[in-house]
Amino acid sequence: MANENTAPRFLIVDDEIASRTKMRAILSTFGVCEDVDNGKDAVESFKNALRYNRPFTIIALDINMPEMDGSGVLELIREEEAKRKTAPSDRVKVIMVTASSDRDSLVTCVQLGCDDYLIKPFTRETLSKKIIDLGFTPLDEETLAEQQKSERRMERIDIGMEVMRRFAQGEMDLPRPSRIYSQFLDLVREEATIQDIADLLKKDVGLTVVLIGVSNSVYYRGVEENKTLAQALNRMGLEETKKYVTLICNREFYRTKSSLHKKTMERLWEHSLASAIAAEIVTNKLKLDFADDIFTMGLLHDVGKYVLINFVEELQEKGVADTDSSREDFGEVMNKYHGKFGAVLFDKWGFSDKYIQTAMYHDDLSGTKQVSRELLVIHFANILVKSMGYGQDEDEIPELDQAASTRHLGLTESQIEEIKAELAEKMEEAQMIMAESAVP
Ligand SMILES: [Fe+2]
Ligand SMILES: [Fe+2]
Repeated sequence: MANENTAPRFLIVDDEIASRTKMRAILSTFGVCEDVDNGKDAVESFKNALRYNRPFTIIALDINMPEMDGSGVLELIREEEAKRKTAPSDRVKVIMVTASSDRDSLVTCVQLGCDDYLIKPFTRETLSKKIIDLGFTPLDEETLAEQQKSERRMERIDIGMEVMRRFAQGEMDLPRPSRIYSQFLDLVREEATIQDIADLLKKDVGLTVVLIGVSNSVYYRGVEENKTLAQALNRMGLEETKKYVTLICNREFYRTKSSLHKKTMERLWEHSLASAIAAEIVTNKLKLDFADDIFTMGLLHDVGKYVLINFVEELQEKGVADTDSSREDFGEVMNKYHGKFGAVLFDKWGFSDKYIQTAMYHDDLSGTKQVSRELLVIHFANILVKSMGYGQDEDEIPELDQAASTRHLGLTESQIEEIKAELAEKMEEAQMIMAESAVP
């Protein structure tokens, strides 16, 4: 029955857009509406609504649809309810919608357990009367506006749930590090020589061209121009080579196909680059010795955001999510899920536990009891670069001198100032080199 606090939720299922629009116009005076244009999506929406604990109250279900027709949908819905042992009074009310010629299938639907039916074409009065007969009253404008607002909020939170669901069920395309990058990481781990690394990297022409470009940039330029990869790597040295291979190979992650989130993605790249450099500076300054490459760890700590941006973008392009959803809501989903995503990615990629931990907890150390030094460095780097403006436009930047990582690392005020100065210089340098050598 109609609850005073919650407006009924309607699911409109019809393959004809005109019919859906008309239904929506009428039903939205009673509650909130969702519509789908086919049977399969109807069943999916029905199940999702149950899963997210906001079931539909009434389904207006067109009988005549291609592929799965209305009676098929009804059957699956009743089956699902039976499986869940839903009490008869809690079952969703189903109104079958049909052209008058379909009376035969209507009999089937009654047998399958529909609650009412509506003959097309219908008037506002007929449909409204049916809803009122089922025990609902039209909402006043204020309640309606309130309901719509909270529904939109739920939908957005659902983006996050939808992301997690698809993720858990393996329905999402996850990025993989390129083959060459994985092999490169193996070589680095095995402490290979420059020659070994050159032999591997030259298999990738694009990468080779860019690396030679980097080695010939104003910053590294020698007397003679480097023409081969081995010359280039020798000039740059192993450490710098590692850095630039990492940058070039991961740059593609921070590209977006559509223009929707282009700016966010650019900011994310800048934030990641700055975090990588900052993490390295801190590590050197404190003479820490890590098994994993802290530069890569810094560069990829927010990689979960990349996946989320792409995914939300996809939902928006398909019209599943609001295109104009405010930055605030989008940010909420990002902040809530990106750590977990990053962690799962690293796990899939076979990266070490340290990577998984930094992805998961870099924004909130309180989530874990085992705070490693690596995590402290990334946590600190993350806040430092934000405080210097390298990053997304985040509203709240924690005070650097009060950050737990600052304390645990024992960084003094003057050390922080030195780190900041070095970071600003190195950032400029890296950006210049990458621009000059046309990093793709
Ligand atoms: Fe983050
Ligand atoms: Fe970050």
